[in-house]
Amino acid sequence: MISFSHVYKTYPGANHALVDVNLNIDRGDFIFLTGPSGAGKTTFFKLLSGFDKPTSGNIKVLGDHVNALSSSAIPSFRKKIGVIYQDFKLIDDKSVIENVSLPLKVQGAKEKYIQKRAEEVLDQVSLSHKHRAFPVQLSGGEQQRVAIARALIHHPSLLIADEPTGNLDPSLAEEIMGLLEKVNAQGTTVFVATHDLEMVKRKKKKQVQISAGVVNAVP
Ligand SMILES: Nc1ncnc2c1ncn2[C@@H]1O[C@H](COP(=O)(O)OP(=O)(O)OP(=O)(O)O)[C@@H](O)[C@H]1O
Ligand SMILES: [Mg+2]
Repeated sequence: MISFSHVYKTYPGANHALVDVNLNIDRGDFIFLTGPSGAGKTTFFKLLSGFDKPTSGNIKVLGDHVNALSSSAIPSFRKKIGVIYQDFKLIDDKSVIENVSLPLKVQGAKEKYIQKRAEEVLDQVSLSHKHRAFPVQLSGGEQQRVAIARALIHHPSLLIADEPTGNLDPSLAEEIMGLLEKVNAQGTTVFVATHDLEMVKRKKKKQVQISAGVVNAVP
C-alpha cells in the first residue's frame, strides 16, 4: 500500500533530508517511525501524504503515484489519508466540533452528514461531552484526541501521526497510543513517528528507523 523507490529529498541550500529511501509497507500494518530530531521524520510524512514532492524517486500510496498527481487529483488523494500533526494544528476560536467538522465543511458536505460524522468521530475518541468546548479549555491529551478525531473524519485508509505523544505525560501517551491501536484494529494502516523508544519496545510493532535521512526497516 506504500512503496518508496529511490526517493531523495533535498531542501534548497541544505543537505539531503532523505537519501535513497526504499520501503514497502503493507495494508493494515502499524508502524513506528523512529529517529533523532532532524533525521527526516516529518519530511518523510510530508512526502507520504502528498504535501511536498521528492527531489527524485517514486512514491506510490494506495495505488496512486503521489509525485505524479495532478493538482486536481490531490484533494481526493488526501482524503484517503488522515494526518495528526506534531503541533495539533487546532483552530483556537473554533469549538471542538467545529474543528473536527472543518475538513467536511471545506469540501461542501451536507450539514446533516457533517453533524452525524463529527459526533461519530468524537465518540470514537471519547470526547462527545466536550464538543462545545474550545481548545484552550482542554488538556493536552484532550487536544490530541480532537486532532485524532479530525484526522479520522474522512474514514482514511492510512493514518499518519507525527509524534502524537511528544508533549504528553506517560499515562496520557499510553492512552493516545491505545486509541491509535484501536483505529488500526479496525483496518486502518497507522504510521506513527515517535522519540519514545520505551514505548516502541513495549508495543512490539513494526519499526522503521531513520537516521540523517537514511531509512531502514528494523528486522
Ligand atoms: N522547509 C525546509 N527547508 C530547509 N530545510 C528543512 C526544511 N524542513 C526540514 N528541513 C531540514 O531537513 C532535515 C529533516 O527535518 P525534519 O523536520 O524532517 O526532521 P524530524 O525528524 O521531523 O525532526 P524532529 O524530531 O525534530 O521533528 C533537518 O535537517 C531540517 O533542518
Ligand atoms: Mg518532525
